[in-house]
Amino acid sequence: MKKILITGGAGFIGSHVVRRFVQNYPDYQIVNLDKLTYAGNLANLTDIENAPNYRFVKEDITDAVAMSDLFGKENFDAVIHLAAESHVDRSITDPTAFVMTNVIGTVNLLNAAREHWKGEYDQKRFYHVSTDEVYGALGEEGMFTETTAYDPHSPYSASKASSDHFVRAYHDTYGMDCVISNCSNNYGSHHFPEKLIPLAINNIKNNKPVPVYGKGENVRDWLWVEDHARAIDVIFHQSKTGDTYNIGGHNEWKNIDLIHLLCEIMDEKLGREKGESAKLITYVTDRAGHDLRYAIDSTKLQNQLAWVPSLQFEEGLAKTVDWYLQNEAWLNNVTSGNYQSYYDKQYSEK
Ligand code: NAD
Ligand code: DAU
Repeated sequence: MKKILITGGAGFIGSHVVRRFVQNYPDYQIVNLDKLTYAGNLANLTDIENAPNYRFVKEDITDAVAMSDLFGKENFDAVIHLAAESHVDRSITDPTAFVMTNVIGTVNLLNAAREHWKGEYDQKRFYHVSTDEVYGALGEEGMFTETTAYDPHSPYSASKASSDHFVRAYHDTYGMDCVISNCSNNYGSHHFPEKLIPLAINNIKNNKPVPVYGKGENVRDWLWVEDHARAIDVIFHQSKTGDTYNIGGHNEWKNIDLIHLLCEIMDEKLGREKGESAKLITYVTDRAGHDLRYAIDSTKLQNQLAWVPSLQFEEGLAKTVDWYLQNEAWLNNVTSGNYQSYYDKQYSEK
């Protein structure tokens, strides 16, 4: 019997991690802590919300007292920390929110664990979920490995890099059992439609312009979100203390090529003529400080822990489109309310 705190479990990746742990480990108690920001949505977890080994707690990780009280009350065996502000464009508009949640929030969790796990650090684990963006940008060649120097460029990646440094510092200074993974771009179901793939699916579906930043030549390495959740499971259970793993899809796409593939898939699924959706592609002003290319070398994870991505991108993208077309209510719900004002502000200035 293990009691695990998963933070950010109502978000995109967090909901897949929570579902996996609740379903695969019936003898674990999973406590999902989430503030339910615009990106957090309990509708992501309706299929497991009544499971006997699952509980939801609405809290804000920036509240140090609440974090300490919770750890005092619950006696967690481990934390898997995903709660974060996660959208680069929002970090350019409002960096402070990213410092508060991603840096201060992470330090609050580390402090709560440090205080309440004293004397048992070797039996407790703090797993921090991070991003490949901490490594900065690549040119045409090369890949990020676990030893690539940190070189973040956006306020988002700077805040994630800072949180990674704090997690390592708590391992090195206090001897806490901390583990970090840095993953590439995820895609799949329940992805909030501010990010490229779900935003483009939603716009194509509604015959709205599909905004492509700059010339569309930036490259991202896309990974099926359930493969990320499986990697987290494997690393959580098998990693040595203090270790770091890169997770990636070996699946690099220029944004414009990805959008063309998506348009082809959607033409077919929506019964449109070939080439119709691609007419919606609209080049807009580039993102400030836009990293050119990310590519992850996940050899260490593959060799040491036998993890490999399971899905080809074309298949995963088609499954993702199917999910969005079959879950209109979910999409309508998250695009009502504040979404429209965010969208208008973000894209009217471009
Ligand atoms: P998301 O924005 O979909 O979800 C974040 C969740 O954190 C939401 O449920 C939100 O309500 C919650 N949250 C935000 N602030 C909080 C606070 N102060 N207290 C408690 N909860 C709070 O993000 P995501 O895309 O699922 O990313 C999850 C994690 O994975 C993040 O740490 C992110 O940096 C990392 N990551 C994401 C990707 C990706 O492609 N999306 C890739 C690599 C790493
Ligand atoms: O690499 C991992 C990171 O991937 C995660 O840490 C972040 O949380 C996650 O948001 C994601 O960051 P990106 O900035 O790469 O993802 P986004 O979907 O915002 O953008 C993907 C690419 O598409 C990027 O080059 C910017 C471009 N883009 C994005 C949007 C929203 C567009 O061209 N048009 C758009 O409207």
